[in-house]
Amino acid sequence: MDPNFFRQSRRLFLGTMAFGAAAFAAPGAFAEELVRTPRQTEGPFYPDKLPLDTDNDLLIINNSITPAVGKVTHLSGRVLDAKGEPVRNALVEIWQVDNNAVYIHTRCPNQEDRDKNFQGFGRFLTGSSGEYYFRTIKPVAYPGRTPHIHFKVRKGTKDLLTTQCYVKGEPQNARDGVYRGIRDAKARQSVTIDFAPIKGSRIGEVAARFDIVLGFTPES
Ligand SMILES: [Fe+2]
Repeated sequence: MDPNFFRQSRRLFLGTMAFGAAAFAAPGAFAEELVRTPRQTEGPFYPDKLPLDTDNDLLIINNSITPAVGKVTHLSGRVLDAKGEPVRNALVEIWQVDNNAVYIHTRCPNQEDRDKNFQGFGRFLTGSSGEYYFRTIKPVAYPGRTPHIHFKVRKGTKDLLTTQCYVKGEPQNARDGVYRGIRDAKARQSVTIDFAPIKGSRIGEVAARFDIVLGFTPES
């Protein structure tokens, strides 16, 4: 593997962060335009047994040198309250299938095909900017579902929101029952995000941004 890989990823991440910060320089300035992120089903595959590693890099488990298979994706965004203010100390959790469409859940079919190098689940605790970041793979479809990434946001012992995000331009979205279940077009749009190619990436990395807007201000 290219020895500069991680350094480059880090730089790209910081670049993305700077862009995000500039776009939201005035806190709450766009509050009237914010669309609440719709609640969606948790589904049956929130890990029944958490992986040994639960950090925000789903491509590498602990100190393994073999990364997961899939399209490398830098997934970031902010957790915001109803007024557009960042929510700090929010624990953002994601889980998704590996490139062979298998969850790490023990009751998910085809466990024998599972990519043992994919973490399948990750966590990130937001700071004062409300920002989170994961390095993962671009989601793939599995029988009955269009590609998606599951999200759960907690603060302390409270569950704040469970939702999913989707790939913009994915033809299978239109046939997906959970996706279609979001009746409001703006709400649906708010969970349908661009997985945009990163210019100059020699391994075809993409960047995706998903802001999570809570319908309330959680207690601190
Ligand atoms: Fe799912």
